[in-house]
Amino acid sequence: MKFDTPATTNPIDQLKVVGQPLDRIDGRLKTTGQAPYAYEHHDAVRDAAYGYVVGAAIAKGRITSMDTAAARQAPGVLAIVTHENAGPLGKGSMNTAKLLGGPEVDHYHQAIAVVVAETFEQARDAAAQIRVDYAEAEGAFDLAAARDTAKKVNQSASSVGDFEGAFASAPVQLDATYTTPDQSHAMMEPHASIAAWDGDQVVVWTSNQMIDWGAGDLAKTLNMPKEKVRLISPFIGGGFGGKLFLRSDALMAALGARAARRPVKVALQRPLMMNNTTHRPATIQRIRIGTGRDGRITAIGHESWSGDQPDGQPEIAADQTKLLYAGANRLTQLRLAVLDLPEGNAMRAPGEAPGLMALEIAMDEMAEKLGMDPVEFRVINDTQVDPNDPSRPFSQRQLVECLRIGAERFGWSRRNAQPGQAREGRWLTGMGVAAAFRNNLVMKSGARVRLDSRGEVTVETDMTDIGTGSYTIIAQTAAEMMGVGIDKVTVRLGDSSFPVSAGSGGQWGANSSTAGVYAACVKLREAVARKLGFNSAEAVFTDGQVRSGNRIVPLAEAAGRDGIVVEDSIEFGDLSKRYQQSTFGSHFVEVAVDAATGEVRIRRMLAVCAAGRILNPKTARSQVIGAMTMGVGAALMEELAVDKRRGFFVNHDLASYEVPVHADIPHQEVVFLDETDPVSSPMKAKGVGELGLCGVGAAIANAIYNATGVRVRDYPITLDKYLDRLPELA
Ligand code: MOS
Repeated sequence: MKFDTPATTNPIDQLKVVGQPLDRIDGRLKTTGQAPYAYEHHDAVRDAAYGYVVGAAIAKGRITSMDTAAARQAPGVLAIVTHENAGPLGKGSMNTAKLLGGPEVDHYHQAIAVVVAETFEQARDAAAQIRVDYAEAEGAFDLAAARDTAKKVNQSASSVGDFEGAFASAPVQLDATYTTPDQSHAMMEPHASIAAWDGDQVVVWTSNQMIDWGAGDLAKTLNMPKEKVRLISPFIGGGFGGKLFLRSDALMAALGARAARRPVKVALQRPLMMNNTTHRPATIQRIRIGTGRDGRITAIGHESWSGDQPDGQPEIAADQTKLLYAGANRLTQLRLAVLDLPEGNAMRAPGEAPGLMALEIAMDEMAEKLGMDPVEFRVINDTQVDPNDPSRPFSQRQLVECLRIGAERFGWSRRNAQPGQAREGRWLTGMGVAAAFRNNLVMKSGARVRLDSRGEVTVETDMTDIGTGSYTIIAQTAAEMMGVGIDKVTVRLGDSSFPVSAGSGGQWGANSSTAGVYAACVKLREAVARKLGFNSAEAVFTDGQVRSGNRIVPLAEAAGRDGIVVEDSIEFGDLSKRYQQSTFGSHFVEVAVDAATGEVRIRRMLAVCAAGRILNPKTARSQVIGAMTMGVGAALMEELAVDKRRGFFVNHDLASYEVPVHADIPHQEVVFLDETDPVSSPMKAKGVGELGLCGVGAAIANAIYNATGVRVRDYPITLDKYLDRLPELA
């Protein structure tokens, strides 16, 4: 089905099942431990051996020798794969050949060997007996030091009007620089895979957000046809962008299994994950805003510096600044430095999440310079069209409503605009606000649907559920379309033998994948109607029956003994070019800061989201409160500490990479505005998960400023950065 004109009324609009706050249909499996994660497919693979990955002990240089003799003699060892015996590896989309390093080493903890043994302990023991000698080379590990070597990149660059001139002549100006650190996805389930070969074909049970990308890249890396690779990933214990791409666990399992002639399971050891896999790159962001005395923005500029491996990519931290506020003169520019740290890549709303951490502090600083309320400052700089191209309207844009409703519900009028003034005993209290913004992307997505002789519906698609609720919203979609209860729908996900879906990334999954299911269900309805001799435009699917005029046929009977199976996909035309599709929100935070110790406690959080139709308010709320929690991590805790001499992340485990725990998170409130976006898809939905994170960090930073009068521009906002600047206790 091609989607190229705005959606009109369709069966989804009935909202009998879609839009209802239903429990997750996979919830019972997960809470009772019956949902098999990547390492747990014991029923499918009974005789798996264990693979243990060896990571490079230098960040850059060459392996001069590898002595595996002792390890090969160690008890239980079945195979050892290194660059010397792996055979040639092909380059997938992300240069996946580098997932096995050697003799060149590209980054610290790059996989250089996998040891396969009968037990995990034997594999680990043998791995410790491999001797590796290196010739270490000089590397660049410090973004600040490499800043001047960074090259401009075209991606995300924009220039409208005369930014420099307008900024220079603006009566009120802000020129400030902010930094965000390297961060790690730190998902609960490690990267893990089990590989089993059958002749020249391989099946890999894994934990991956994008099944089709993963299958394609594994095939390319192993130099084999994609048809001979099958990926299976029905449950995923968190991905956050770290599992968008093929990673070393899957390749090591496949190589290890081929060498050992046995199925092999590999879970990346937790201390290896943070340097072996990808991370969110650090940024340095310079923001300049110029306004008139009335507070209207005349110039807005956002430049961001980040680093990555040679041939790597920038963090797209300036993109939201193209679209979030009005202003005739504009500039965005990214610069990329070559660093020899591990590969930077997508993490938890890449681009906007770190970009808004800077931009939305800058907006707060500017409001203060103007003596304006930060909500009002944002409201007067709203735009309903793309400021780069006024002929492109936003499909929906309720940013002002999000801010106003949020301010009302949060009690914003009780905020003291004068910082450092509100006190409760030793606690300094304050409130902060930030706008939330995340683009809405759409991706082609397919599904197969079957109506069987019991009148039940089965949906199959390679879509993934990374803890987000995909199973449930897909079941809701099929139930609504076919006129059955959700208990009559079975959803099967995460298998590359199913039709290719949008996958889970960039908050495009919910809208795109359900739209694909919608398309397949439209085709199934037509097939049912045709079989019964009904006019498909007049056939009504409801209560397990199909009706046309005064004929009523139960779906079970319509399906017949053999059932009916169809397959279709949604393909998106140019609506996303004609309209700017984005999601909007506001974040409000109240904090208390201990005036003596500097300890920050977050007291209240509110998110107001305008993100199209909310397909399931319960799973959507869970997405947003999870994202807000990640925002607390980004604001106050999360930072990969770089060893700038040796070039690695020092705190590479969950003991030393800090993330929020329950006790750090207060009551969280989430409000969804009533919105449908007919431009986004027949579902009229958008993504909401990443929106929930975008802006949170800055709202917290602004609340801390309001509480203390101390402005910290370098995340995370830890004690050492402000303790000596807190107001004296009276
Ligand atoms: Mo998302 S960081 O695109 O999985």
